[in-house]
Amino acid sequence: MTQRPRLTPDQLRSRWWFDNAEHPGTTALCIERYMNYGVTLDELTSGRPIIGIAQSGSDLTPCNRHHIELVKRVKDGIRAAGGVPFEFPMHPIHENVRRPTAALDRNLAYLGLVEVLHGYPLDGVVLTTGCDKTTPACLMAAATVNIPAIVLSGGPMLNGWHGNQRVGSGTIIWELRKRLAAGEIDYAEFLSTATDSAPSVGHCNTMGTASTMNSMAEALGMSLPGSAMIPGPYKERSMVAYDTGQRAVEMVWEDLRPLDILTREAFENAIVVCSALGGSSNAPVHVNAIARHAGVPLDNDDWQQLGHRVPLLANVMPAGVYLGEEFHRAGGVPAVTAELLKQGMIHGEALTINGRTMADNVSDCETQDDDVIRRFADPLTTRAGFINLKGNLFDSALMKTSVISADFRRRFLENPDDPDAFEGKVVVFDGSEDYHARIDDPALGIDATTILVMRGAGPVGHPGGAEVVNMQPPEALIRQGVDSLPCLGDGRQSGTSGSPSILNASPEAATGGPLALLQSGDRLRVDLGRGEVRLLVSDQELTSRREQLKCHGGYAYPGHQTPWQEIQRTLVEPLDRGMTLRGADHYRDVARRSPPR
Ligand code: FES
Ligand code: MG
Repeated sequence: MTQRPRLTPDQLRSRWWFDNAEHPGTTALCIERYMNYGVTLDELTSGRPIIGIAQSGSDLTPCNRHHIELVKRVKDGIRAAGGVPFEFPMHPIHENVRRPTAALDRNLAYLGLVEVLHGYPLDGVVLTTGCDKTTPACLMAAATVNIPAIVLSGGPMLNGWHGNQRVGSGTIIWELRKRLAAGEIDYAEFLSTATDSAPSVGHCNTMGTASTMNSMAEALGMSLPGSAMIPGPYKERSMVAYDTGQRAVEMVWEDLRPLDILTREAFENAIVVCSALGGSSNAPVHVNAIARHAGVPLDNDDWQQLGHRVPLLANVMPAGVYLGEEFHRAGGVPAVTAELLKQGMIHGEALTINGRTMADNVSDCETQDDDVIRRFADPLTTRAGFINLKGNLFDSALMKTSVISADFRRRFLENPDDPDAFEGKVVVFDGSEDYHARIDDPALGIDATTILVMRGAGPVGHPGGAEVVNMQPPEALIRQGVDSLPCLGDGRQSGTSGSPSILNASPEAATGGPLALLQSGDRLRVDLGRGEVRLLVSDQELTSRREQLKCHGGYAYPGHQTPWQEIQRTLVEPLDRGMTLRGADHYRDVARRSPPR
């Protein structure tokens, strides 16, 4: 553990607001108004760190709502360490409910948080996270502003049970939809099983985007070790809230900032841990975005090079069978990281927010249940990370290999002439409404070898990017026992989905990507061995289609509904570049480079 020089009280950033002889009027205005609800003059002027608490919970964001209670313990911890807590609201982001998509709000919450962290008298901040996009929004803002910052996850819900069957958030919905389509259950059973999957406060209990991104925060070194996956209602969750508050104050004195922690090594650790967790296909989007704001070069080639070789160790849905409670009891993220560290796959020297290195934090950890967190020598699957596919349809698209089922492998990937490759005729849908309207139309001729394509679902086509690529086959095919088909598209899919879809194709159709030229009936060749998807149509034909498309004004997509949709569509980068806002990543370390004025 390295000793860092300590700040003195007069070096606190908040002194500009609360003890500034050059601006007595401003100082008085700041002081009198914070005192109006009972903060004392001594608290504001005696040189105590002011710690913001970014409150992401609200009635609109149920996955994070228990942070309203948890922050009481955060505040206790801050006060015990000599700081003064100031809680403030974040823009709500609720994955399941927000339309057209919660992803539209990640960048909006990021912008809002940057302005708050930069423009108010904060020396450090506790970032409360949970539901999918709350975590990347917080980490992106922390990297941009670069005041001492620590992540506090709300933790997953308790396990869901339906009778004696584990039912996991989101994952059960994908399964139930198929059973409903096959006529095996009615809507009442669909709903009662779905609601059983959400038995308590907390975020999704599967290794969906929420659990993944909070685990990423821990793997990056931005939250206390072992904290990411403590279930929301457990007493340890409140305890770690207290410890997080205490630590936030210490980090201010140590001047330990996000950009000290968010290094290339930290991001490489995150990629490796993500693969071993069977993490969400949204993780590359968000982690690449955080890296861009931290000024660390990172792209989907890194995800393949560093991540694909990593075996799946976490036996958690959707890639495995257990849920958050078992994962936490088995040792959580530290036990997975320790197993990878032993193999030399983790940068043990990476610094973390407790001032210790990753190796210091995890080397004594080990799996407490080697069915839930597997040993490296006995994984669920080998080579479990993402493949970054390329070809004449897109520059980058990801496939999550940890969820390729034995059935999918048998049907598509065990061709003796060419293992790892398959060909099929495509049926193309322009957005999810088109899919829902036409999927059961027998005239489409969808059979067990068809590749379903979804376009118009990227960050511009469907503002924010829709989680719709994991398309269900037509009901008639499901009744015949074919319950999955290969899917490909320029949108995303839910992290709770077990579909091995080809996702996040960039550039998207709406910005002129070649997907816009695809026609139903075209043949595609997918070669996972070579990392390639090829449209088997001549260049001449594609050129002629491109001309036709130009004549019709380009690829059509629905208009803007709100000002932010228009602004975001104008500025948003493609999914492989993290879906960040063009120009925003030029702002870095703004608290130090642009002091208050
Ligand atoms: Fe909020 Fe899954 S819907 S965490
Ligand atoms: Mg989602």
